[in-house]
Amino acid sequence: MSALLITNIGTLVGIHPQDTLMLRGQQMQQLPTLEDAWILCEDGKISDFGKMEQLPEQLPNHISTHDAKKGFVFPSWCDSHTHIVFAASREEEFVMKIDGKSYEDIAAAGGGILNSAKKMQSESEDALYQSAAQRLSDMINQGTGAVEIKSGYGLSTDSELKMLRVIQRLKNNFNIPIKASFLAAHAYPPEYKNDHDGYIKLIIDEMLPKIAAEGLADYMDAFCEQGFFSVDDTDRLLQAGAKYGLKPKIHANQLAVSGGVQIGVKNHAVSVDHLEATDHAVIESLQSSNTIATLLPSCSFYLNIPFANARGLMNANIPVAVATDYNPGSTPSGNMNLVVSLACIKLRMRPEEAVNAATLNGAAAMELSETTGSIAKGKTANLFITRPMSSLAFLPYSFGQSQIQTIVLNGKIS
Ligand code: NIG
Ligand code: FE
Repeated sequence: MSALLITNIGTLVGIHPQDTLMLRGQQMQQLPTLEDAWILCEDGKISDFGKMEQLPEQLPNHISTHDAKKGFVFPSWCDSHTHIVFAASREEEFVMKIDGKSYEDIAAAGGGILNSAKKMQSESEDALYQSAAQRLSDMINQGTGAVEIKSGYGLSTDSELKMLRVIQRLKNNFNIPIKASFLAAHAYPPEYKNDHDGYIKLIIDEMLPKIAAEGLADYMDAFCEQGFFSVDDTDRLLQAGAKYGLKPKIHANQLAVSGGVQIGVKNHAVSVDHLEATDHAVIESLQSSNTIATLLPSCSFYLNIPFANARGLMNANIPVAVATDYNPGSTPSGNMNLVVSLACIKLRMRPEEAVNAATLNGAAAMELSETTGSIAKGKTANLFITRPMSSLAFLPYSFGQSQIQTIVLNGKIS
């Protein structure tokens, strides 16, 4: 039995009612807070919280106390879209981009995802684990307390399994919730360049049964985009995944409107991610579903591509989440604080909306919002404590800098 009492909290942020598991567009403006507060964590969970003037007199034995010194306490960031298992960085492409090449130019020249896939083939599982674990530790130190991780740089049965086993090891060794998505449909490998049907069959007939047998994936992903996987390919793949209980979380409309969002919604996707390009039909299809629109503003920033129409989505009452997309090609950063700043600056989300998108809705985009993503009794005590701040808006305002001083995971200062 362990207990931690955090006292003198300037503002306790994100106190949503216990049964609020996702916030749709307009609801995202509400971010309930408590000033001058305490919070009690017992056995890894939030057991109570309140105002300092009503600090309980009876406290559990063996309690440790931490003085927040007027800092803010937030629920940890929930990063619902990452690709942190990769063999090598790609800063040569970074320089190509500076010289004027587009993401598509680089991919067509054998760079991009295929470049990462080549490097993946020869990397050992141990080396992959070590580098991914380092990235994950860095993310946790920047306030992330739940994460989704994708495969997708394998593009062969052995390499996809290798990546998913690395994610499994991360799940076993880290004390935060981790979800795994199977993304073999990330690019057509060179040997299937002229045989797309052959690769889809390989995914459906060979990879999926093995992955399901080992229980290595929670979700089915696909990069539905012109030059990558068509709407029909994506539909087939999502239906095949569903047979093994894998719900879709897909990449759609990063480079152009593709019909990917609608095919995701049709297959009951938990989320459709990217959406740098949207039109009226996209908004209409999301409006009548529970699918979350996950936006990745640091990807737009890094690739110099348009930013998603967050305001249009929220005005249409669609639930919006934000995530990093941490990967070696389009977003080499796992910093959710920067994502929240970019959500405000570039997606024009208000600080309250951006924080909700990065916490409760991010948790919902991993089906984890019953246990994390807000301050509620019984939820996992994954939190961070900031320096004293003049207001909530100071956090995204001070972009590129961290206000975080202390990380609490499972009710323990880490
Ligand atoms: O989400 N768009 C597809 N996948 C990644 C990029 C992968 C890469 O370039 O390595 C993304 O941006
Ligand atoms: Fe991605």
